Amino acid sequence: MRIPLVAANWKMNGNKAFAERFFSDFDLQAIAAQVVVCPPFPYIPLVAQVAENKERLSVGAQNLSQESSGAYTGEVSAEMLLDWNVRYVIVGHSERRSLYGETSELVARKFVAAQKAGLIPILCVGETLQEREQGRTLEVVASQLKAVGDITESDAWEGSVVAYEPVWAIGTGKTATPEEAQDVHQFIRGELGDVGNKVQILYGGSVKSANADALFAQADIDGALVGGASLDANEFAAICRAVG
Ligand code: 13P
Repeated sequence: MRIPLVAANWKMNGNKAFAERFFSDFDLQAIAAQVVVCPPFPYIPLVAQVAENKERLSVGAQNLSQESSGAYTGEVSAEMLLDWNVRYVIVGHSERRSLYGETSELVARKFVAAQKAGLIPILCVGETLQEREQGRTLEVVASQLKAVGDITESDAWEGSVVAYEPVWAIGTGKTATPEEAQDVHQFIRGELGDVGNKVQILYGGSVKSANADALFAQADIDGALVGGASLDANEFAAICRAVG
């Protein structure tokens, strides 16, 4: 059985006061899902402290370096994240791909760096609006997955999470319909091979409490990666309660 997972991606939002307030408002009671909060790097220690000894709450990072150490100004390695009890790390978010030029090959190296250090990568995949309109959704998602598959053993997926985030649904208020999302999730599970049934596949893109129930009712949607709505502790808690 796959445990439901809901991850908050705060992106480059908030500050110390926001993070403190978030956790004074966020109520883990009545949440059966695993919850991951991915703040900007400077607030990782703060979130890690809150998550300490809480089985269902973990801290995640939004990015990492593919390198383990060296002259890479501005980069953060997997080992450094582990030092702060980070358990999960997002790799290949569409904003990293589109704004910072991260290729699928680079994302795959980050996936490997995370796993090698014992972190759980949350690999983001998803098509742009143009690619969807051209009928290329599955081809794009398959090639993003293949880049990882090409440099890992087939069972590597088992220690990972995949997030399907259609680029056109991120921060736009447009969500894929539950059926559209389910179709892609089912496809992704098939692409993951023998271990596919064990991998949590999250949906991301304008998830809120109002659409969470319908998305989570789909057989292959195991949770969500939440951007904007994760900045409101009560709204995020409502999304977490909707799954599982
Ligand atoms: P929104 O929930 O704001 O659409 O963002 C989704 C996302 O990019 C999560 O990683």
